[in-house]
Amino acid sequence: MSGLFITLEGPEGAGKSTNRDYLAARLREHGLDVVLTREPGGTPLAEKVRELLLAPSDEVMAADTELLLVFAARAQHLAQVIRPALAKGSVVLCDRFTDATYAYQGGGRGLSVARIAALEQFVQGDLRPDLTLVFDLPVEVGLARAAARGRLDRFEQEGQAFFEAVRQAYLQRAQGEPQRYNLLDAAQPLDVVQRAIDALLPAIVERCRG
Ligand SMILES: Nc1ncnc2c1ncn2[C@@H]1O[C@H](COP(=O)(O)OP(=O)(O)OP(=O)(O)O)[C@@H](O)[C@H]1O
Ligand SMILES: [Mg+2]
Repeated sequence: MSGLFITLEGPEGAGKSTNRDYLAARLREHGLDVVLTREPGGTPLAEKVRELLLAPSDEVMAADTELLLVFAARAQHLAQVIRPALAKGSVVLCDRFTDATYAYQGGGRGLSVARIAALEQFVQGDLRPDLTLVFDLPVEVGLARAAARGRLDRFEQEGQAFFEAVRQAYLQRAQGEPQRYNLLDAAQPLDVVQRAIDALLPAIVERCRG
């Protein structure tokens, strides 16, 4: 038996967490075993690495340090949570995964795709998400939603150009592999986004049972 690995991607404020919970509830109604998790983080140790990544600091974090911390947390998360859950046949719904690394450390920070791909292979082997929902929305809308929540983390403090590059990197990946990615217009009202997610349910349920 092997489960299904679904990731949710997009910028701050796009609705990843809200819709992860929504999708989990719908899948549980179908009797599926669902594991909810997030990156960076997902285990106590990986959550400590998340704190290092998100905390604003006077010391500038080198881009390579950031990249290695992201993958260090991911190695722990895969070993402790994701691989065991998939092995017992669960659906894993993960709020951000390696596409976020390509978008933020690649697009945003300008690190090369080849370097990220090498670490992806090293840490994940052949494991890739089965399905990735990309919540796309104009940069200003996401930043406004994030700002409405209060104090900004180290990434949220970046400017418009950084988030434009993040958005373009996500869009490029989604366009390059349309079988894996599902692009959702996250600027639409939440109920419209959730109708789009409802439309994906039959195929997801069938893949889990198949
Ligand atoms: N389609 C939508 N229209 C309007 N508001 C939305 C929509 N989706 C989510 N929201 C609201 O925007 C805020 C951010 O949503 P959410 O926390 O799910 O985003 P996120 O992608 O998880 O953000 P982050 O990356 O910062 O964790 C919440 O207040 C949520 O209710
Ligand atoms: Mg969230």
